[in-house]
Amino acid sequence: MKKENLRMQQPEMDRRQFHSRLGWLGVAASGAIAAAGNLLYLKPAVDYGPPTRIRVGRPEEYKEGLKEIYENERIVVVCEKDGFAAISVKCTHLGCTVRTSDSGFECPCHGSQFDNDGFVTGGPAPAPLNWYQISLTPNGELEVDKSVVVPSGTYFKV
Ligand code: FES
Repeated sequence: MKKENLRMQQPEMDRRQFHSRLGWLGVAASGAIAAAGNLLYLKPAVDYGPPTRIRVGRPEEYKEGLKEIYENERIVVVCEKDGFAAISVKCTHLGCTVRTSDSGFECPCHGSQFDNDGFVTGGPAPAPLNWYQISLTPNGELEVDKSVVVPSGTYFKV
């Protein structure tokens, strides 16, 4: 018998083999989908954003009259004889970062000016700069909580 005739009589894959392979393909696909779902489950679906509590060093690291700017956190920590204050450097007009000046703070975007306590002294800003709560951690570091706004002029005494 010729080789070609043998091929005609015996197909490469019979119907039973085809369905068996199709079944195993389905099992593999469902396993891959389940594994992907489990991996996605491990990743948190909620973004809590940047932390609101920021450690800004020990009180003894500050000198009276110092204004220490934390650019990434958009705050300035002020050390006065009355204590410590954490003031936002986010302009209350459209959110630009204000910079310190001789008279307090000024905004480079539209020219708002603020005094040393963050009160508006000029420009379009509609409200004073926020003051944030400061506390002392158990290990003696100053900690600013940006989620708690305190009245302007509230100094934290160590
Ligand atoms: S954003 Fe500061 S003055 Fe407009």
